[in-house]
Amino acid sequence: MKAAVYSRYGPPEVVEIQDVDRPVPEDNEVLVRIHATTVTAADWRMRKADPALVRIMNGLWAPKKARILGMECSGVVEATGGAVTRFREGDQVFGSTGFKFGTHAEYACLPEDGRLSTKPTNMSLEESAAVMFGGVSALYFLRKANVEAGQKVLIYGASGSVGVFAVQLAKHFGAHVTGVCSTANLDLVRSLGADEVIDYTKEDFSAAGRVYDVVVDTVGKSGFSRTLKVLKRGGIYARISGSGGVLGMLVGELRGMWISATGKAKVIGGVAKPTPDDLPFLKGLIEAGDLVTVIDRRYPLDEIVEAHRYAEAGHKKGHVVILP
Ligand SMILES: NC(=O)c1ccc[n+]([C@@H]2O[C@H](COP(=O)([O-])OP(=O)(O)OC[C@H]3O[C@@H](n4cnc5c(N)ncnc54)[C@H](OP(=O)(O)O)[C@@H]3O)[C@@H](O)[C@H]2O)c1
Repeated sequence: MKAAVYSRYGPPEVVEIQDVDRPVPEDNEVLVRIHATTVTAADWRMRKADPALVRIMNGLWAPKKARILGMECSGVVEATGGAVTRFREGDQVFGSTGFKFGTHAEYACLPEDGRLSTKPTNMSLEESAAVMFGGVSALYFLRKANVEAGQKVLIYGASGSVGVFAVQLAKHFGAHVTGVCSTANLDLVRSLGADEVIDYTKEDFSAAGRVYDVVVDTVGKSGFSRTLKVLKRGGIYARISGSGGVLGMLVGELRGMWISATGKAKVIGGVAKPTPDDLPFLKGLIEAGDLVTVIDRRYPLDEIVEAHRYAEAGHKKGHVVILP
């Protein structure tokens, strides 16, 4: 099968299309013929080892464990392992391989009891591929921040993979949502349900005296000082993304711990931990018409280098989809 493989850390060009063996499903796995997958921030960070901690996870000098990137996909079940009972050949499915990666290829194997389900009835296969990474990450942090009805929530970075889901999920939980994005994305963020939008190219979100219960920063650019200025005392600052490499992450963690200890605000961060309930929860919202995904660009697998380049530039609207 064709797959996008990388054998050294570096720029988008380190990813090459190669012929590799088609994976064979274990007893509890299904083999999915991939219809669509995405290039996310996790993929380009793994590819360029940014932050350097990636090397501990995937090989110190060169990528070892995951050499085919891609964390989420949709497609059609081509074969099933002997013990599989929930899926059969021909099922249209969507799901995530998580940190095992491997979906930037024509086929991938996913465990039947993992993050895999028949696709939402009201979404195309292409759209279904672009749900799990952003949806699960946003859900994890909103739940950790205890977002609830009546709260004022600011989503800083409302138009990327995580942002588009954070806006919709915060609205679903009953919050009054303000989304921060650039001029070109104001209408998109409004269309996702944001009650207010702030154009960061024209206005500093911390300047107008607004106060929030929760600030969710999906891009690592809201900054501690500006965020503390708009958070009510004891409010929650969810830092989904930090900034400044390993040192910046460490300084951010320490500063967050100090602020939390003073009681000024509770700072939360770390890596999203999916739960078994996430996928059925997101699928339920999609089928109820309460959650949509956003696709910015589509690329064939052969143009994966260009897709990495575009995703890494940091200004995609929702998702970049790959069609193997
Ligand atoms: N902690 C975790 O478990 C976890 C999970 C998922 C993702 N992440 C991290 O979260 C970050 C975001 O991921 P993502 O997939 O959502 O990224 P993405 O899709 O690439 O997000 C890009 C968005 O960020 C916006 N943006 C860029 N600069 C901005 C600024 N100065 N102010 C406000 N918005 C700005 C862009 O909007 P404009 O074009 O309008 O600027 C664009 O829509 C990544 O660093 C990723 O590694 C962490």
